Amino acid sequence: MLARARARVPAAHFAQAHLLGDYPPGFHRPFDCVVSTYTFHEFPLPDKLALLRRLFANHLRPGGAVVIGDIGFPTAAVRDSVRKAAGDAWDDEYYWILDEVEPALRAPGLRRHYELISPCALVLALSVEQPRPE
Ligand SMILES: C[S@@+](CC[C@H](N)C(=O)[O-])C[C@H]1O[C@@H](n2cnc3c(N)ncnc32)[C@H](O)[C@@H]1O
Repeated sequence: MLARARARVPAAHFAQAHLLGDYPPGFHRPFDCVVSTYTFHEFPLPDKLALLRRLFANHLRPGGAVVIGDIGFPTAAVRDSVRKAAGDAWDDEYYWILDEVEPALRAPGLRRHYELISPCALVLALSVEQPRPE
């Protein structure tokens, strides 16, 4: 996959790493934006929060954003009804439950935007408010 990606976008920098482990040298710097699709649901909430803290502390420029597209539900009740409807097709992972996550993401200066894009998918956009110029 890395070889195919490099061939298609030679100017980009690709690497494989455990998201909760050590990152390759080219990634020890801040970025304007970190985008993740369908991966955060691999982690329970404490690991999700630790990863977000790490990204904001070490890998985002001031004013930078994390944008996450993933499987998620507004409430546990909605997840349970989708699980019931899915039957054997349901795969139990750490899906986002917005009303449980929202209080954990409340932090001074952290701007949060959530958008439900289907009955089981959402986009979260998180960014740190920039101090206003004097
Ligand atoms: C459902 S796939 C999504 C792939 C792709 N981002 C997309 O949207 O099509 C989940 C991906 O997360 C990766 N993944 C799972 N746990 C990971 C971890 N701890 N660190 C890095 N990647 C991980 C898997 O290897 C897999 O490629």
